[in-house]
Amino acid sequence: MKVVITGGAGFLGQKLAASLQEKGKLAGADGSLSPISEIICVDRAVPGEQRDGVTYVEADITSRGAFDAVVPEDTGSVFHLAAVVSAEAEADFDLGMRVNLDATRALLERCRTLERLPRLVFVSSVAAFGVAPSIVDDDTPVRPLNSYGVEKVVGEYLVGEYARRGFVDGRAVRLPTIVIRPGVPNKAASSFASSILREPLQGKTAVCPVSKDLAVWIKSPAAAVNDLIHAHDTPGEGWPDGLRALNLPGLTVTVSEMVAALGRAGGDKGLISWEPDPGIEAIVGSWPQGMVTERADALGFRADENVDAIVRQFLVDELGRSA
Ligand SMILES: NC(=O)c1ccc[n+]([C@@H]2O[C@H](COP(=O)([O-])OP(=O)(O)OC[C@H]3O[C@@H](n4cnc5c(N)ncnc54)[C@H](O)[C@@H]3O)[C@@H](O)[C@H]2O)c1
Repeated sequence: MKVVITGGAGFLGQKLAASLQEKGKLAGADGSLSPISEIICVDRAVPGEQRDGVTYVEADITSRGAFDAVVPEDTGSVFHLAAVVSAEAEADFDLGMRVNLDATRALLERCRTLERLPRLVFVSSVAAFGVAPSIVDDDTPVRPLNSYGVEKVVGEYLVGEYARRGFVDGRAVRLPTIVIRPGVPNKAASSFASSILREPLQGKTAVCPVSKDLAVWIKSPAAAVNDLIHAHDTPGEGWPDGLRALNLPGLTVTVSEMVAALGRAGGDKGLISWEPDPGIEAIVGSWPQGMVTERADALGFRADENVDAIVRQFLVDELGRSA
């Protein structure tokens, strides 16, 4: 079975490719596990570090007909991760619409033409919620308050509609903010949530643009990748009809609690520079601080144990420290 990962050179895309390669199997159209014959990572650029046995394809998914070339006829599964992240989509409306919305529709259209009905996992976000209580549940309406959130919600509806029509076996999952992202800060409004841990753990300074009592809904990279694979393999009947989207379990953690975990892991809290940015606080503050995730829990999705376990995961997986 061929598997396509859009955004396959990105943070989660690369981790997903590694995990799929290790696993070697995914549920096929009939639900039984089938061997993966090829993993195709599609992105604007190929990653610096490439895995043997993974196919990397450079393509701009907003260009006309891009998916005809990069999604083979016999594709069985698609993980749609390519996106312009929150602060970038807010800064550049047209780019966000092209990548996050127009390309999602184009991908669904390509899936519709394939030899057999593919499974597709669309990665949405807590940004789907804007006007909402601080703790949302499975039935809280999605009313986003920024371009990224709107693009994700429309993508969720498209996935649900293409599934209802029988064009694709699609599912959408709303990921919490993923912490700790390795590398350097990105253009996500939530980028600070990784920076304030990642940089001090390596003896570097970090900027925190939000207040200490702001709470964020987080998940580790490993748990997120497990969720994406679980979302793929879970039978379609378990998903809500119409809007085939699920809130995924996570942890509610305040910035203060993250800083305390940093201290417990031996990081220097003094390396965090507190520089309020009302724009960032407004975007992140509009997202839910927690979720009641009964549907996802019932389907077997799981949160991390606690923030200390997330920090430990980063130290072991990214910095090569012993467990
Ligand atoms: N990381 C998080 O905290 C988080 C939280 C919720 C949802 N998500 C979603 O998960 C997905 C993956 O996130 P990530 O953190 O790995 O982001 P990322 O920015 O690392 O990866 C996204 C990838 O999409 C690619 N891309 C963007 N425009 C493209 C184009 N025109 N053509 C081809 N490729 C293009 C980028 O080059 C990048 O490699 C995204 O859809 C994101 O919205 C992430």
